[in-house]
Amino acid sequence: SSELIKKLNETIENVPDFPIPGIQFKDISPIFLNPKLYEDVIAELAAFSKGKIDAVCGIESRGYLFGIAIAVALEVPFILIRKQGKLPPPVISEKYDLEYGSAEIETREGQIKKGQRILIHDDLLATGGTTEAAAKLIEKQGATVSQFSFLIGLKDLKGEEKLKRFGAEVYHILEY
Ligand code: PRP
Ligand code: MG
Repeated sequence: SSELIKKLNETIENVPDFPIPGIQFKDISPIFLNPKLYEDVIAELAAFSKGKIDAVCGIESRGYLFGIAIAVALEVPFILIRKQGKLPPPVISEKYDLEYGSAEIETREGQIKKGQRILIHDDLLATGGTTEAAAKLIEKQGATVSQFSFLIGLKDLKGEEKLKRFGAEVYHILEY
């Protein structure tokens, strides 16, 4: 709702030139000082996914802050997507390119079931590189990426373009 958007805009802190010059960092941590606002965010994100998904996948680490609460609100499983080397074997992995070098994300084998409709949730869609890798990781396990949700989408970085080919719904509460 416009009321929620207004409240979030007053709460999220814009920090210029962090972590490097030229980046406008959006600090979401003040949201967690306000339990009522947090509940309203979860209600908004849960309403988008209600009846449309069988499980939520959250991306380490900020994707956990809202992702688990969405899953609990909808009474569906939550699956952790973690950075390489954090989950014990057996795991399924997906490599992806960063601006410099590469990274890898993983889920524990068997937690995602074939045919499940999955919501991928993260706090922020920037270039879309992380989310795209998460979607590939899910598809190679025989599940369907049905939805993507974010608290924030950064429209200049065109992350949504990268997600189009998965044919899933995309939602973000705020856009900058
Ligand atoms: C940030 C953010 C998203 C990702 C978005 O996470 O939380 O996960 O970057 O960027 P992209 O769309 O360009 O891939 P970060 O890797 O900084 O780690 P964190 O969540 O552990 O803070
Ligand atoms: Mg992150």
